[in-house]
Amino acid sequence: MILDKDFKVSEIDNRIYGSFIEHLGRAVYEGIYEPGHPLADEQGFRKDVIGLVKELNVPLVRYPGGNFVSGYNWEDGVGPVGERPRRLELAWRTIETNEVGTNEFADWAKKVNSEVNMAVNLGTRGIDAARNLVEYCNHPAGTYWSDLRVSHGYKAPHKFKTWCLGNEMDGPWQIGHKTAAEYGRIATEAAKVMKWVDPTIELVACGSSNSAMPTFADWEATVLDHTYDHVEYISLHQYYGNKEDDTANFVARSLDMDAFIRSVTAICDYIKAKKHSKKTINLSFDEWNVWYHSRDADSKRDPWQIAPPQLEDIYTHEDAILVGCMLITMLRHSDRVKIACLAQLVNVIAPIMTEKGGAAWKQTIFYPYMHASAYGRGVALNPIISSPKYDSKDFTDVPYLESTAVYNEAADELTIFAVNRDLEDSLYLECDIRNFDGYRVVEHIVLENGDVKARNTAGNQASVAPHNNGNAEVKDGFVQSMLPKFSWNVIRLA
Ligand code: AHR
Repeated sequence: MILDKDFKVSEIDNRIYGSFIEHLGRAVYEGIYEPGHPLADEQGFRKDVIGLVKELNVPLVRYPGGNFVSGYNWEDGVGPVGERPRRLELAWRTIETNEVGTNEFADWAKKVNSEVNMAVNLGTRGIDAARNLVEYCNHPAGTYWSDLRVSHGYKAPHKFKTWCLGNEMDGPWQIGHKTAAEYGRIATEAAKVMKWVDPTIELVACGSSNSAMPTFADWEATVLDHTYDHVEYISLHQYYGNKEDDTANFVARSLDMDAFIRSVTAICDYIKAKKHSKKTINLSFDEWNVWYHSRDADSKRDPWQIAPPQLEDIYTHEDAILVGCMLITMLRHSDRVKIACLAQLVNVIAPIMTEKGGAAWKQTIFYPYMHASAYGRGVALNPIISSPKYDSKDFTDVPYLESTAVYNEAADELTIFAVNRDLEDSLYLECDIRNFDGYRVVEHIVLENGDVKARNTAGNQASVAPHNNGNAEVKDGFVQSMLPKFSWNVIRLA
């Protein structure tokens, strides 16, 4: 591997380390909010969960959905809690109590030092509800909706900057599913009035729900044809699973993510060329993760419960390895991927789990996400990599070494993120760090485990946890290390 200060991909937008809280399962209720819990604060938010989210240093949290948002009346979630309606929640077939809504979530986001990435409902609602919500949240005062917010005890506007124009509108499962042209029109008209209310906001148009959608590519082209002048980003969503129990193939799936990003970038630039535009549309990968462990259990659940356990994937070591590869992939495209949201944050396909009335604990995927968020700030470098490769069921030429590096000029630090995909053998890494004169290894963190299916649980929270006994060192201008088999590595130099 060769690293050079001058081989720059881009300054990394910190929002690439965003996450997601949806009104779904136990994400909100029993997740971030549990008034009866011994560690609940005066608003009912769990302080142990706040502590773990802060450890992850999450700059942006998408809210309130997800599929949920396409049936959500935001007005249900503001004002006196005792007067809020209980509703049938059709996306996840539960009962929504509306105890937590926009203002409470804004308070929680402040407590965890995050910005809110707010989504509007373009399923059952439309232009009017969207512009009213922007006015309620962001307008200082002196109008109907802003004064209503003030009357609810929130004098200062929330100033939410990043907004999603609906969610997965290409999916037949979505409440208010639309064709690309239908969505392109409503997204454009909603975007116009939302920006007329607050011209400082940035907007994300819905891309495809995943790259396998039959409408993929045509959807993006049509939506952007309509919305190009009115939005800043187009979204990508992708989840991977390992139902076939083929680990080598599973951890190669970040190559699919790479191809997805390249395709959407190409579509954005095609529309740019077609419109003779100077504006560049960037990517918001606002749902990404591993998701499959809980699907069978969820298909058997009785409907109309309040905050039942849903999408509670318990993650393995191999899941953490793929999450590491996905983080590296997005960093390598950080010139175009400006926002990304690990879906989700608490209890629902999440790095953080909670027990009702009990402990909050870290899943395996907590670690690569935390390391990238902590040490992946600055400029993403473009490493030249030569790695041995393998073929798997769905992929050819999968490099055993997946790696990238981030240079934090302010802190005078260089961090190499590296995955060894090899299930059998360690991999010798030799990295030329040419113009990083005098840099030494500060720490070499390793996440490894003899059992690819090892997982953490409430009772055994440290089954998969990183150590900092990696053997990287700098010799004659080269970082040298044996990367243990099937491991995630963070080599910090200064
Ligand atoms: O994150 C879980 C769900 O996955 C979201 O609600 C939806 O947008 C996607 O299909």
